[in-house]
Amino acid sequence: MVSVLIPAAGNGERLGLGPKAFLRVGGKTLLEWAVEAFKEAAEVLVALPPGAPVPKGLRATFLEGGRTRQESVSRLLEAASLPLVLVHDVARPFVSQRLMGRVLEATRATGAAVPVLPLPDTLIRPEGEGYGEVVPREALRLVQTPQGFFTALLREAHAYARKRGLSATDDAQLVRALGYPVALVEGERAAFKITYPEDLPLAEALARVWSA
Ligand code: CTP
Ligand code: MG
Repeated sequence: MVSVLIPAAGNGERLGLGPKAFLRVGGKTLLEWAVEAFKEAAEVLVALPPGAPVPKGLRATFLEGGRTRQESVSRLLEAASLPLVLVHDVARPFVSQRLMGRVLEATRATGAAVPVLPLPDTLIRPEGEGYGEVVPREALRLVQTPQGFFTALLREAHAYARKRGLSATDDAQLVRALGYPVALVEGERAAFKITYPEDLPLAEALARVWSA
């Protein structure tokens, strides 16, 4: 039994079109994409920007997000009532059933699992304004959502982070900080995070052909 936690309280500053939860792609808001993707889930909880109107007609429970993603997820975790959680960014509308399935299977087996992908580009650590050192890309992965956890483990990780003043851009790093391993499963290019204006034409194109 899985609680799906959707942090959707960001302001989308890099995109510059208001909160991404209400951004329309392929005629639907990103929030609608996310809630529909998880329509099989027993429980869906969404953190919205403070003061945002609560959307009607969506099968989800809404609460007010925090100042950071981490704070929004902490609030969602408090409200979760099931032993497993899947945490999924609203900014990633194209999440397939296969991807969810891989993450859930590994989560059930290990307690914590995230999807990752290899990086296509050459990667460097710039030196000042210059090119600098090349970082071997074979050694690196980019990390996506949905991320799956035993609910009790992620709660403990968030409590630990709060106590230590740690801040994190995803949940898996808090579980790692607590000292627990996080399993990796294969991610999907389509599950990219809509972040910059240039991402929108790709999202619109995917929306036309997408069936999860
Ligand atoms: N998020 C959240 N609460 C916050 C900040 C972010 O729930 N206080 C959520 C966003 O809604 C998004 C996810 O965390 O689903 C990943 O964040 P990001 O892609 O950075 O989105 P924004 O924070 O909205 O964008 P930006 O950083 O450009 O402002
Ligand atoms: Mg952000």
